[in-house]
Amino acid sequence: MPPLQGLAKQDGNQYLCIVKKLYIETYGCQMNVNDTEVVFAILAKYGYSRTEDIAEADVIMANTCSIRDNAEQRIWGRVDYFNTFRKAKPELRIGILGCMAERLKDALLDTGKVDIVAGPDAYRCLPDLLAAVSEGHPQMNVELSREETYGDISPVRIDRNGVSAFISIMRGCNNVCSYCVVPYTRGAERSRDYHTIVREACECAGNGYREITLLGQNVDSYEFEGVNFAKLLAMVAEALPGVRIRYSTSHPKDISDELIETMAAWPNICHQIHLPVQSGNNRILEKMRRRYTREWYFERVAKIRSVMPDCGISTDAIVGFCSETEEEFRDTLSIFEEVGYDSAYMFNYSERPGTLAARNYPDDIPIEVKTRRLNELIALQNRLSLESNRRDLGGVFEVLVEGPSKKDPADLCGRTGSGKMCVWRDAVHKPGDFVQVKVLDCTSATLLCELA
Ligand code: 5AD
Ligand code: SF4
Repeated sequence: MPPLQGLAKQDGNQYLCIVKKLYIETYGCQMNVNDTEVVFAILAKYGYSRTEDIAEADVIMANTCSIRDNAEQRIWGRVDYFNTFRKAKPELRIGILGCMAERLKDALLDTGKVDIVAGPDAYRCLPDLLAAVSEGHPQMNVELSREETYGDISPVRIDRNGVSAFISIMRGCNNVCSYCVVPYTRGAERSRDYHTIVREACECAGNGYREITLLGQNVDSYEFEGVNFAKLLAMVAEALPGVRIRYSTSHPKDISDELIETMAAWPNICHQIHLPVQSGNNRILEKMRRRYTREWYFERVAKIRSVMPDCGISTDAIVGFCSETEEEFRDTLSIFEEVGYDSAYMFNYSERPGTLAARNYPDDIPIEVKTRRLNELIALQNRLSLESNRRDLGGVFEVLVEGPSKKDPADLCGRTGSGKMCVWRDAVHKPGDFVQVKVLDCTSATLLCELA
């Protein structure tokens, strides 16, 4: 039993509870949001309570992302900002968690600005690291694990709407796409025991959540004691009939007919697939080590559309990957046009030290060319999103109310099953309600609706 650091022993049987305030900023993907929730849960047992006010924090942490260089640059700026609070509070502890901790290790400690460095598999050690740290003695644990899934930990949910929750079903990635740092920062792939996943999903439903998103870098390779991802999805859908189930992310090389058919078979599994294409050109796809072709990708999209014609399909794409020619970039434009994505995340290629691409291919597309291509792709996607939304005009959809709209608090907002954001005037419903709305108008980002 580790020492109870939140409790200081007084005389006799009396304990004094020393509550410390913990503030965490989260960057990067939804996995990181879920990891932050796990960290709050681990540290809550040791007397650390969550604060959203950085000025009152005893411990400030950033859960970081290394996926692109600009993600890391932002965090360096935050580390300087965190250090400005040391003047008023010399006992303040500053920690870096997540992918950047794993990638940079000692280099973070060498700055003298950070007291704790903990990689994605080291969060159970945070209480010990915090107990051991002292002035001039920073602490670090960046060991990657083949087993850690935090399966037994019930995360402290940090999203504010209390409607949708993320559940990690696996960690790490074995794909080693040549541009990607994730296999190095998050380690080898491992799947979480499905009993703990279903239990956590039931806990969420019991606490009022109405939407659950199952998370993994590559959910299609989930496998625990003979249960694959399609079976897991069906298990969760069956256990929680009144709750929407989503997931992210599928790999085009692995998305199976069984999974697509399972999505269609359960009314509470949302018809939405995030299927990162990365490039529309076969030579670039091979260089990226994606292990599918443009033709294969089209075939998977055709299968999805034949089984679920109403399925929302979104994607990720990288422009300006090593040696990408103008014609090869045009193949990315044309795959976007042909698939007609509902939405997309698009990025300039950012070389990440240590990856296969960084070791083998020069990052030879000038930044001006990358940015011009990116802007062209974004403009195309804006048009495609608008066209997709226009197809929904006059349609009636079930949406899950998330809360007031940011633009006008008299409006509510929520998503369709296919993942489109809707806003409508409503003084009656509340977050967590399912309502029917009719689409009257749209922008490229939003369906403007009324109650149906
Ligand atoms: N440069 C730019 N974008 C990247 N992504 C991953 N690695 C890089 C990189 N080195 C993008 C991919 C991935 C998304 C999460 O981030 O499109 O799907
Ligand atoms: Fe960023 Fe990838 Fe790490 Fe998520 S797993 S935080 S996207 S580098």
